[in-house]
Amino acid sequence: MFHDIPDSMSLAMRALEDRDAIDRVDGTAQLDRLRQIPPETGRFIALLAASSPPGSWVEIGTSAGYSSLWLALACRERAQILTTFEVLETKATMASATFASAQVNDVITLVHGDFLDFVGQLGDISFCFLDAEKNIYGQCYEAVVPRLVPGGLLVADNAINHLVTLAPMIDAALVDPRVDALVVPVGKGELVCRKR
Ligand SMILES: C[S@@+](CC[C@H](N)C(=O)[O-])C[C@H]1O[C@@H](n2cnc3c(N)ncnc32)[C@H](O)[C@@H]1O
Repeated sequence: MFHDIPDSMSLAMRALEDRDAIDRVDGTAQLDRLRQIPPETGRFIALLAASSPPGSWVEIGTSAGYSSLWLALACRERAQILTTFEVLETKATMASATFASAQVNDVITLVHGDFLDFVGQLGDISFCFLDAEKNIYGQCYEAVVPRLVPGGLLVADNAINHLVTLAPMIDAALVDPRVDALVVPVGKGELVCRKR
């Protein structure tokens, strides 16, 4: 997966890493910032997705498509499709350009819209990466967990750097009898929940 990343994908990843690094130092307005995961989180979610049971894969919060590119590596490994949801038009337009230049349109379906408006149509989820606004994490968690297949994974970003905001959801997940859960100190902190 990580040893033979096609040039089209690594070029697109590097361009987004450069843009994200600039965002973080130049005070770009919050809405325009990519706010993407670091590369080590990309590797982590790709490994988890590639190890998930059969079922559908979703991502909540695409931004310009950086995390989706890491998941696309796992899609290729497992002959899977990732459906990724982005509510902002500007970000969805950027993600669409990313996926075209990285040549991953065969494994990624981009949906421009609010995930919560679509989740009712989803079922048999075996992998979900949650990386949206922190105030909807609880709603997303409650929408996704019942739809996870046994052994399916829900991974939520920002479990350490947004700990105060996310504490109620994380605390609830850690004692939720439907899942086994753990916070992993990779990147900004990943809450990993496995459906029982
Ligand atoms: C932290 S960024 C995602 C970064 C991306 N996962 C990456 O690492 O490249 C969060 C994104 O979630 C989007 N978002 C927020 N709420 C959403 C919702 N309800 N449905 C879909 N996208 C949402 C935001 O517009 C923003 O682009």
